[in-house]
Amino acid sequence: MTTTAPAPGTTAPATAPRLATHLAAPAPGWVAEADAVVVGSGIAGLTAALELRTRVPRVLLVTKDALLSGSTVWAQGGIAAALDPSDSPAAHLQDTLDAGAGLCDPRAVEVLVTEGPARVRELVARGAVFDTGPDGAISLTREGGHHADRIVHAGGDATGAEIARALVAQIEAVRDDPGIEVIEHALVVDVLTGPPGPDGRPGPACGVTLHVIGEGQRDGVGAALGRAVVLATGGIGQVYRSSTNPAQATGDGIAAALRAGAVLGDVEFVQFHPTVLWLGSGVKGQLTLVSEAVRGEGALLLDTDGVRFMPDVHPMAELAPRDVVAHAIVQRIASTGSDHVWLDARHLGASFLRQRFPTIFERLAQHGIDMATELIPVAPAQHYHSGGVVADIVGRTTVPGLYAVGEVACTGVHGGNRLASNSLLEGLVFAHRAARHISSRLDDLPQLTPTPRPGDAALVTAASRARIQRIATDGPGVLRTGPGLSSALAALDRVPTDAHARTDDGRLLAAPQVAEWETTNIHQVATVISSAALTREETRGGHVRTDFPLTDEAWRLRLELSLDPDGHLTTTRTPLA
Ligand code: SIN
Repeated sequence: MTTTAPAPGTTAPATAPRLATHLAAPAPGWVAEADAVVVGSGIAGLTAALELRTRVPRVLLVTKDALLSGSTVWAQGGIAAALDPSDSPAAHLQDTLDAGAGLCDPRAVEVLVTEGPARVRELVARGAVFDTGPDGAISLTREGGHHADRIVHAGGDATGAEIARALVAQIEAVRDDPGIEVIEHALVVDVLTGPPGPDGRPGPACGVTLHVIGEGQRDGVGAALGRAVVLATGGIGQVYRSSTNPAQATGDGIAAALRAGAVLGDVEFVQFHPTVLWLGSGVKGQLTLVSEAVRGEGALLLDTDGVRFMPDVHPMAELAPRDVVAHAIVQRIASTGSDHVWLDARHLGASFLRQRFPTIFERLAQHGIDMATELIPVAPAQHYHSGGVVADIVGRTTVPGLYAVGEVACTGVHGGNRLASNSLLEGLVFAHRAARHISSRLDDLPQLTPTPRPGDAALVTAASRARIQRIATDGPGVLRTGPGLSSALAALDRVPTDAHARTDDGRLLAAPQVAEWETTNIHQVATVISSAALTREETRGGHVRTDFPLTDEAWRLRLELSLDPDGHLTTTRTPLA
């Protein structure tokens, strides 16, 4: 099947999904005030908070769980930066553009790769201890899609944990400083906005509503007011049945930004990691990642007949870009009638594997697998959201005062598929830029009074979560079709979202509480991904339409989604620069 060239512009078909513009929640019972409110404590949120602390009088850092939680802690492989004299930002730029399948914003990528090395050295100055070689220089390794050794790692395969440890230690060291307040166990409910514009869309951001679990004065739902709000809330893994992401990754930031009027981009580009430990089709939730770095050190992929298949697929074989490897595995699984493939690291030897990959070695051992002597069963699972809240190269979204950094953002550095180990780097580089931009423009950002958002409030019962995850996995999953995506949208539309919905015996279906707010966010994110995936009638990067198997130059554009004032999801086909 061939595609028809899409006309640039706006589409809002009568059938466009309708989503609520705020969550049902009690009125705030407490208020905290700051100049800048940072939401999230991964590499992006911690970096933004530390940079802002020295530049603006009052910073409030809020995080959904404890400071040391979230996706950064789980990152194994590393952080990419052209540090070796034989490497260059230009080579890193080219690999990033190639992985991004024609949809990257080259200007944003240039910022990423040129500022990345300095930011990584600053991490060392902040106390992060990276693995070094005999000469004391930082050891660099390779992952899929990279033509040079440029992956910095720590503790072998515990890079994110080490970075988070170092940054959290810096925050802890200034916790008594009156210029910074930290609130943990705080779920962001909605972004607060000022008076709407003439078009009826929400006004500038002026804070967030939060639900805090039990700490003295800051308990229950409250309002954190600020002149600038930085969303650094991470990813969306829990939209799917299984993911490498932790339980906190319920898409809270992207959904709240959408409800606040922000434009989302590239949301159909969901990355499925090729080598996630396969433990049976019934296994759900967070799954064990087997880092791409294992292939970087020479591990091979074999089908269940023991045949190595990647050299026939791509010149880079097992180190082809991540989407290429994931799709090759899915096809091999289908053609062999199996449900997984094997990762073979046995030839690397027990002592090397134990020393280079201590975390993976231990996690596999907990599942009874000795990676030094046994094959590892793997299959693709959700890993990363390449799209997100559209943000420019200083993190500004389309809503004044609202910034987005890290995985929640769509800066254009990933395009259709993120290059391995560019995610920690993106969080680091763009959080640093956003903090500097906010501090330079603080005087232009007045503290506005929040204005209630009109329209119905949404609340989806937590009992619907498994159903929504099944719909997302079957619809906008690894392989997509038009009919499958239409069915997913219809099924999502049947999920009751009205906060006043009642059971047959008259009880309210959902109560305003954490599990319900998260499930509502999961529902809204599943809807926007399904909608964009249905619109994009081609295969590109992480978006595979089996009914449109070719990449089509006419689709080399970004799909941007936003809610109109009535809550209809509007899709704009935006040409790339
Ligand atoms: C991995 O270690 O394979 C994941 C790294 C990444 O997602 O960039």
